[in-house]
Amino acid sequence: MQKDLSRLLRDPKLIPSDKRNLLLEIASQAESLGMPCYVVGGFVRDLLLRQPINDFDIVVEGDALRLGKLLAEKYGGKLTPHRKFRTAVWTPPSTFDLQSSTLDLITARSETYSRPGALPTVKPAAIEDDLRRRDFTVNAMAIRLDGVHFGGLFDPLNGQADLKSKSIRTLHPRSFMDDPTRIFRAIRYEKRYSFILHPSSFALVNPDSLAVLQTLSGKRIRHEFDLIFEEENSFAMLARLDELGVFRALNLPNFNADYARFLKSAPPAEFGVAADEVTAGYLLWVADSTLSAVESLSRRLNFPSALNRACESIVRLRRDLASFKNSKPSGWTFHLEQFPPLAVYVLWLVSGEPALKEFLVKWRHVKSITTGGDLKARGLTPGRRYGEILTALRAAWLDGEIGSLDEERRFLNSWAD
Ligand code: CTP
Repeated sequence: MQKDLSRLLRDPKLIPSDKRNLLLEIASQAESLGMPCYVVGGFVRDLLLRQPINDFDIVVEGDALRLGKLLAEKYGGKLTPHRKFRTAVWTPPSTFDLQSSTLDLITARSETYSRPGALPTVKPAAIEDDLRRRDFTVNAMAIRLDGVHFGGLFDPLNGQADLKSKSIRTLHPRSFMDDPTRIFRAIRYEKRYSFILHPSSFALVNPDSLAVLQTLSGKRIRHEFDLIFEEENSFAMLARLDELGVFRALNLPNFNADYARFLKSAPPAEFGVAADEVTAGYLLWVADSTLSAVESLSRRLNFPSALNRACESIVRLRRDLASFKNSKPSGWTFHLEQFPPLAVYVLWLVSGEPALKEFLVKWRHVKSITTGGDLKARGLTPGRRYGEILTALRAAWLDGEIGSLDEERRFLNSWAD
């Protein structure tokens, strides 16, 4: 007999009312179309673990595009269809007040892989086939939503048993060969939930699957690291991947364990640096590297240009630290402001150099009172000289040579002489 989870689905402590309402609306629209409809994957896993629910993936036996169209007609929002796979992403209107703003609507399908690591070929199928194409037993459960079936748990692969024994277990021996990004996923779940990769699945992280991992595009691999840097236990995940030989297989540099404690150090407000835990993760990763090591990591993981620039910056800045040791604040400031503030912040974390903090918190905001307009009013012809004068003024403020408007005027007069 199927387990009935309708009470859990209605529990406001587990699913906030906005999400629950949306789920009920989807269920009723699917019923009106006569399509069996399920919520699957991480939603079911987290519900059974009594963990906060993030996004939800909806699977229908039928046509998810039809369901998506109906939802968008009835409630508004934005529908992005992917006709080839008969799936759609629906962004519900803001009336649903959802934190995670999009919803995946999927037509139940089976998948085959033309070659290891390739993207899969799909065809419509029943829910059981759809669950069989998935990564791990704990992610291969579904709860039916439509009509009288509401709340019925569908667990043909024994996910509940693995949740109980805290095991991450693949569904078949070729799983990591088909999609080696699942090695990363397994480790994320292991360390997020304090589970353990089941010995039979652990054995599948072997030279064959690691060889397929090497064939993946940089962008796909980088996406997996991005997800790790967003997690609470990022360092434990990186260490475990290293232990499994993933770093070696991909020829990636080690992550310095001394910096693990900085991974979740969002910049305090006084620094005025926007928090970005993913970029900060990469910056910590390369903080001890050389420029050529950054270049090869950037090439291997296909860094976007902003990330590449940030990583190069921290390496250059670190190299320059010694030569700036006895510089005046203006020397530091004019140099540091050429680099992304987050790179300066992360370098401060790892080096403890006080000037970096001073720069972020104070120096970079120091400006002269005099503006270009004032210089014009003094009768100075606009040109390169404006920049020189304002820079000299700013340096004098930074270095404590002037500290008031009067002193600034005197400084300007001497300059104009
Ligand atoms: N999935 C899979 N193989 C992958 C990626 C995803 O089988 N390489 C399936 C899993 O069933 C997973 C579902 O697609 O549960 C949704 O994927 P995703 O949103 O990435 O994961 P979640 O389960 O939601 O987990 P997380 O909490 O990490 O987002």
